[in-house]
Formats: sequence, structure tokens, C-alpha cells
Amino acid sequence: MCVTAVIGAQWGDEGKGKLAHILSLDHDIILRYQGGSNAGHTVKTAGNTHKFSLVPSGVLRSDRTCVLCDGVVVNVVTLADEVSRLRGSGHLLGDLFISRHAHLVLPFHCTQDAYFEEAKGKGAIGTTRRGIGPAYADKYFRVGLRAGDMLRPDYGDMVKALAERKNVLFKGYYNQPEIDPDKVWAEVEPTVEVLAPLVTDTISLIRTAVRDKKTILCEGAQGVLLDIDYGTYPYVTSSHPVSGGATLGTGLSWRDFDRVMGVTKAYCTRVGAGPFPTEDFGEDGDRMRDAGAEYGTVTGRPRRCGWLDLVLLRYAAELSGFTELALTKTDVLDSFEELKVCVAYEFDGKRLDWPDLDPDVLSRSKPIYETLPGWNKDTTAIRSEGQFPAAFMDYVKFIEDYVKTPVSIISVGADEDATIIRGANG
Ligand code: IMP
Repeated sequence: MCVTAVIGAQWGDEGKGKLAHILSLDHDIILRYQGGSNAGHTVKTAGNTHKFSLVPSGVLRSDRTCVLCDGVVVNVVTLADEVSRLRGSGHLLGDLFISRHAHLVLPFHCTQDAYFEEAKGKGAIGTTRRGIGPAYADKYFRVGLRAGDMLRPDYGDMVKALAERKNVLFKGYYNQPEIDPDKVWAEVEPTVEVLAPLVTDTISLIRTAVRDKKTILCEGAQGVLLDIDYGTYPYVTSSHPVSGGATLGTGLSWRDFDRVMGVTKAYCTRVGAGPFPTEDFGEDGDRMRDAGAEYGTVTGRPRRCGWLDLVLLRYAAELSGFTELALTKTDVLDSFEELKVCVAYEFDGKRLDWPDLDPDVLSRSKPIYETLPGWNKDTTAIRSEGQFPAAFMDYVKFIEDYVKTPVSIISVGADEDATIIRGANG
């Protein structure tokens, strides 16, 4: 096996960070291919909790090479801070590189994100306000700055010139105070010393690694349902979490991939606005939020919670070509007597087996549920497949049969060892 992708199969927060950390044990190189500091992942290792936003989980392992590839948008202030913190605590064990093509998120992109959200009022997307949309917009507008620009002697002038351009927009369009380009540069300048030495030609690095049969792990951020083209537009992020993003954003080709793992919770969550057919506004949703500590890693916002939506999971699986599923946070359902799973929708009196992600349609698509018996047992100490109650395995089988994809990993808690790799540990 050479190249594996770990992809969010829902609206993000599926537990990809933990999975990527575990899989990084068997991979030489760990890549991030899209998104930026809107992502947040938590990895618990013996006695330590690590929260990352930009660096791939693999940096916690020595002899690993971690790369922020072409499709990522790099917030220079956040990344410099993460790198310095990890170095300070002795946890930056692997090598870290940044593609010279990766676009930069500069402080005014975050300001623009906030102005834009405020201007939208009730129609706001509920972004993380991490400047993601504005940075990708500058990229496609072909005015953005790239990591390679940090190596140029006139980088400071380029940052200040882009800040001036933003002022035209901030003042004229958003009717907001201007920013001081010199102050922006004062914040950005110290990051150059930390980040510029990490900038390189990562396409060449990756192609050489493939030729040398090195093992590569692509760590996705967000989830397929937040994809700019395949998600619930406009309630999406501005990049491609779908598996195709892992080719567009890295220099890998589709022929290089052997394994595409979709990561899904045993239920559903969503942060921010947008349709969510199985959202539960009652006691069950509250129980999931409490048991699953469903609050955003980046923003601390409470997550919306609801039952597993197999219609959307199959959509994500087919679009990304999942070869397997990892089922996470199953322990959150431990105390439920009965479990509902959405197997189709009713829309305008008709049954839909395939979703229409247009927000107008999806928000009016009523879930048709099947009810399965809960296992009603604490599963957090289980470490091998044979120990699971029969009702638990029936729930897993129901998902596999519907999505036509095997569940290869089950996660029953946040710790690294609370992970059952099927076929491997019994
Ligand atoms: P943005 O990516 O900050 O522009 O936010 C766009 C939408 O994606 C919002 O609904 C966010 O809540 C959501 N989003 C962005 N990143 C994540 C994530 O890592 N997990 C969950 N939702 C996210």
C-alpha cells in the first residue's frame, strides 16, 4: 500500500485527526491538501493532549515528513505559533515542509471574513472567521500571495500592497474602518524567520517519494458535505474536502491512491448554518452533544447534533470512492434504548433515495427513519471486536450494507488505544 487518504464523510469533526495520527505510524509522509486553520484536531497520546489547526498530526512522530501542500491556505501567524509551540515543548519530531505554491492567509483575510459575515446578517454562513473564503477568493482572483513569496526580498511590500487593496474594499464596500498596512507587516514579519526555511518544491518531493515507493497519508480537513462544489453550497467551506481534492491539492494523481478511508461519526453533527435533515432539536440531540462533548475545537461553538444520515453517507462514499469506513464516537450512543438511522427522504410527497444538496431542497427533505435497537451498554473499555454486544455489531452491519463499504476501524473513545482495527485485534 503506498497512498492512503483519510476523508471526512460528513460536515467535518468526524475524528479524522485521531485516525490520521494512528495511521501515520504506517506512513512515511503525511500531507494536508486543502483547508487551513478552520480545521482543528485533537490528538490524545499518553498523558498529553495536542490541539492542531494547521500542522498534520504526523509531526508527533519522529522520522515522518509532514507537508502542507499546494491546496492548503496557510495562516502565517497561526502556523508560526504552532511550530514555535511544538518546538518549545519538544513535540515537533518529524520534518515539516510548506509548498511554495500554498496561498497565504494574512491578518486582513480574517478581518474580511468577519466583515463579510456581518454584512450578510441573517444569511451568514457561520464561517470560522479564519479568513478561509477571502484567501481562496484572492487565489482565484489571482492576487493572492503564496508561501514562495516569503523568500522574496520585496515580500514586505507585497503584503502591504495587498493590505492597501483590502482597504478599498473595507472602506468603500463594507463601510468599515481601514487597516494600517505597517501594523499588518509588523505582525507578519516575525513569522518569516520561522516559516521561510520550511518552504520548498513539495511536488518534486512527493513525486520522488511515489517513485521510491514511500508510503503517503493524505489527511483531509472538514468533510465531503462542506465541499465547495459537492456540499450544501453556499453553506460550505471554500475548498475540496472530497477525495478529488487530495489529487488537486498535492501533486498526486488518482492512479497513486490505494486506500480511501471515509471517517464518519455514528451519528451526525454540523457547526454553522445550512441544511441538516436529521438534526434533533429535542432531548436526543442534547444527549449526543453532552456525551460527545460536541463543541467546536476552533471556535468553541456548540455543534448541532442528530441521527446518522445514511443517504448522505452513501453520497459521500460514492463521490469520494471510499474503500473503507472508520466509525467514530460510537460510545456516544451507549445509553440509547433505540437508534434511528435515516434511509431515505420524503420530498414533496415523493420518496428520495438520492439526496439533492441544494439547500432549499435538502432543508425540506424529511428523513425516513429505520429504528434499530440500542446496545445500551458501556463500550468504552472494549478493545477487540468480539467484545461488542450483538446489537452494536448489527448497527455496524446495517451501515455497511447500506453504504456498500466495509467498516474497518471502530473508535470508542478519544484515546489512541480506544480504537478497534477490525481483523487486527480480534
Ligand atoms: P469556513 O471554512 O471558515 O469558511 O466556514 C464555512 C463553513 O464550514 C462553516 O459552516 C463552518 O462552520 C464550517 N467548517 C469549516 N471548518 C470546519 C471544521 O473543521 N469542522 C467543522 N465545520 C467546519
